[in-house]
Amino acid sequence: MLDVVVLVSGGGTNLQAIIDGVESGSITNTRITGVISNNKNAYALERAKKHGVRNQCISPKDFASRDEFNERFIEVIDEWKPDLIVLAGFLVVIPPAMIERYRNRIVNIHPSLIPSFCGTGFYGLKVHEAALERGVKVVGATVHFVDEGTDTGPIILQKAVEVEAGDTPEILQKRVMQQAEWKILPRAIDLIANGKVSVCDGKAVISQ
Ligand code: GAR
Repeated sequence: MLDVVVLVSGGGTNLQAIIDGVESGSITNTRITGVISNNKNAYALERAKKHGVRNQCISPKDFASRDEFNERFIEVIDEWKPDLIVLAGFLVVIPPAMIERYRNRIVNIHPSLIPSFCGTGFYGLKVHEAALERGVKVVGATVHFVDEGTDTGPIILQKAVEVEAGDTPEILQKRVMQQAEWKILPRAIDLIANGKVSVCDGKAVISQ
């Protein structure tokens, strides 16, 4: 059984997709053992409560320094003993010590086809604004393992989504979520839970 802790900052629709996947059985061999948010007002926390999932808010704002926050953050994660940490719209930089300790056990969902529209400053709606600004015709989402860089870790799954005439950043964001993110994040967790994902020479390999 894969014990998963999900880290969130906002609405939590990706968290919901994971909860639904576990409850419906499309994600197998997995239980969600906790949700952590850096934002006490995140609707994601309500979703966790509704489904009886342990949840906690831990925010850098409540600590004197980033080092103190990082130390407590790692302590909480270690106490919860996850097999996998899922960043589902989590907008806080993961402490390097956590990346080291949980190497290839932290995954992130990013709302673009990496290496396009990723890295520092590309998050949430900004990604879709940049894609429309550039005029690309295909966008999408990526699930990847987290390494020390920003959106640079081994890519596990990607899914493309077409841009349509009249798209606004908000409309495009919603389509990327519906057609890509809510599908590939649960799928990646199911693959990991069933031992189908390994990392070789810095690349994720999927065995069927
Ligand atoms: C999602 O679109 C996710 O891909 C994005 O934030 C949104 C969170 O939505 N993550 C990033 O931009 C990370 N760089 P949600 O709270 O409804 O799941």
